[in-house]
Amino acid sequence: MKHKEILELLNEMTIEEKIGQMVQITGDVFLSEDTNSILTGPLKDLHLSKEKVYHVGSVLNIVGAEKVKKVQDEYLSKSRLKIPLLFMDDIINGYKIAFPIPIAQGCSWNPKAIEEMTEISSMESSIAGANVNFSPMVDLSRDARWGRVMESIGGEDPLLGEIYARTMVKAYQGNRLSKIGKMVSCVKHIAGYGAVEAGRDYNTVDMSEREFRQYYLPAYKSAIEAGAEMIMTSFNILNGIPSTVNKWLIQEIIRKELGFEGIIISDYGAIEETITHGYSANEKEATRNAINAGVDIDMMSGIYANHLKDLCLENQEIENKVNESVLRILTLKNKLGLFENPYGNSNVVQEKTYLMNPTNLEKAKKLTQETFVLLKNKNHVLPLQKNKKIALIGPYIDNIGITGSWSMFSDRTKNGTILDIFKEKIGKDVLYAKGCEILRQEEINKILSADGLPTVHVENESQKEQEMITSALQIAKKADVILLALGEHYKQSGEACSRSNIALPENQIQLINELYTLSKPMVLILFNGRPIELNTVEEKVNAILEVWFPGTTGAKAIVEILFGEENPSGKLTMSFPQNVGQCPVYYNHYNTGRPHHSNLRYVSRYQDIPTESFYPFGYGLSYCNFKYTDMHLNKHKMKKNETITVTVKIENQSNYAGYEVIQLYIQDLYGSVVRPVKELKAFKKAYFQSHEIKYVNFEIDIDMLKFWNDKLEYVAESGEFKVFVGGDSVNVLEEKFELLK
Ligand code: GLC
Repeated sequence: MKHKEILELLNEMTIEEKIGQMVQITGDVFLSEDTNSILTGPLKDLHLSKEKVYHVGSVLNIVGAEKVKKVQDEYLSKSRLKIPLLFMDDIINGYKIAFPIPIAQGCSWNPKAIEEMTEISSMESSIAGANVNFSPMVDLSRDARWGRVMESIGGEDPLLGEIYARTMVKAYQGNRLSKIGKMVSCVKHIAGYGAVEAGRDYNTVDMSEREFRQYYLPAYKSAIEAGAEMIMTSFNILNGIPSTVNKWLIQEIIRKELGFEGIIISDYGAIEETITHGYSANEKEATRNAINAGVDIDMMSGIYANHLKDLCLENQEIENKVNESVLRILTLKNKLGLFENPYGNSNVVQEKTYLMNPTNLEKAKKLTQETFVLLKNKNHVLPLQKNKKIALIGPYIDNIGITGSWSMFSDRTKNGTILDIFKEKIGKDVLYAKGCEILRQEEINKILSADGLPTVHVENESQKEQEMITSALQIAKKADVILLALGEHYKQSGEACSRSNIALPENQIQLINELYTLSKPMVLILFNGRPIELNTVEEKVNAILEVWFPGTTGAKAIVEILFGEENPSGKLTMSFPQNVGQCPVYYNHYNTGRPHHSNLRYVSRYQDIPTESFYPFGYGLSYCNFKYTDMHLNKHKMKKNETITVTVKIENQSNYAGYEVIQLYIQDLYGSVVRPVKELKAFKKAYFQSHEIKYVNFEIDIDMLKFWNDKLEYVAESGEFKVFVGGDSVNVLEEKFELLK
């Protein structure tokens, strides 16, 4: 439709029809048959009349060409003006092909890889009829207790968040939304959600505007600059006011400062929750607060549906805001071509041929391998030698639950297991024992109860546990190397999955301790959705491969890495803490007046653990051995309009070829506000042949030196700086330079 026709349509609409466009509900209400609908928030009755239901503008949690058509047909059959529904979904790490969870994808340090994963996911999703994806989640995340760190594509770093946000928005949206394979990117959760106090989900967020601008805003800003058509407000309060009704955040920052002209949708029920927060006095006030803040779509609260009309009748200003919101919604539907084709790019035939096709599965496996992080490899126990007898032990050796808690559309039955792949590779006589369950029943019951499912009692659990350990020991005794696949349950990370204990489960630690008595080399493969505590197990294993939740092709990707067919290259985007007491721990911290590295008593430290992280940001090993030497600056003083060239020699001192992520950090030694001990400012992922030497250059420019100063200006201040280059944020070469006035 032409814009003029959109305006005409808007004028034809009744106030009820307009307000309906601003309401989003789960779409199963339009399906007659039982759909065992997917739930991504509290199940509740929104008290909507049938008329209001058939006025809604969009639905969530419906995807699949056939289902989309059924819902759209049923809805349009009762729609006076035939304005098609928008279909919005959480396709967080892939639709049918589940890719690694976002925190894992971020560990690839390869925007191109993330772009390819996003494009495949977007193509599968749009063929399946999804118009909008509630992705990317770009909340800066520093606290491993928070379950949603698993969704954070940039982890603890603002630069990675910016780069990945831009990459994913462009990959989802392309240059024309109506094109097959493209869809609307809804960036989330605005704002500051990753800073929930104590890592407890939905909890308070309170920070200075400078902290917000320096660390949390950049990724959202980058997504908006990349053209994101939609943003989602977060559940948390930000400095005393819920984000969803925070006029400073939405009007001053998002609309005016960042110039965002797209649609603002609340998170699930978040408008109504402003009452629970103690900000809105009642539903009518919640309505007023949300429409005045500028929320265009009320997701799953019914507040707009039940109260917005009254406010419009009382105040023309409110109706004008409604008209603005509805125009934005109609315009987006038009960009997607829905008025011409209400089913979008959904295609039942293409679904059958494109979804999970072998080419994309092979691509997925290669991309997945870049997300694994080799945390330890003592005495080069990896790669495994095929002539060695290998015992496969642990619950994740033969488990298909490896796609994470947000991959509700993928087909888990298609996930290979490590055991399957080993049998394919080295024949049937694989030495295998489960060794233990992922969790003891008591922990599983906590998950079941949270999902409203009946708990289960297991008779003689400890006896069964001991029997499993005994058979694992018997198997392990026959082997030269023990391969141990352990980790979190996939439902222990994700939304509403905060944990105060982030160690491996006790029963798994018990298995490690028993196997340790055999004094055989052990390789630990870790499946988890957050940085976890490894201080009690690390010295008992010879190698640790962090695979997160690697998705559909994860098992095959893992086995090929273990045998050296591919070389691990991932680098951590979140620091691993010594233990949970250290959370939040992050690399770009301030020095304090008594930095922890001095051995004096009165310094900033813990009495009982080292103050450094257990594994630092940017860390990850390879089968290669990269040596960094000869760091050189072409000059040590730069004017504001100049650059400095940094050169480093890197030698791959191994017989393996592989990638290295060369990272450049900068420290501003003093400023009008204190500055972090280091900040990632650039990185390059380079491929090295065996024994290859490369001279890698970086350009330092004035933009890398800018920050939010004491007057809340974004400026670079003259003075002294340090520049660091290395394969992680700790083992670095350093040089100094000065920015002249
Ligand atoms: C959830 C999540 C959000 C998701 C939305 C729709 O509560 O917070 O990330 O996109 O609801 O499912």
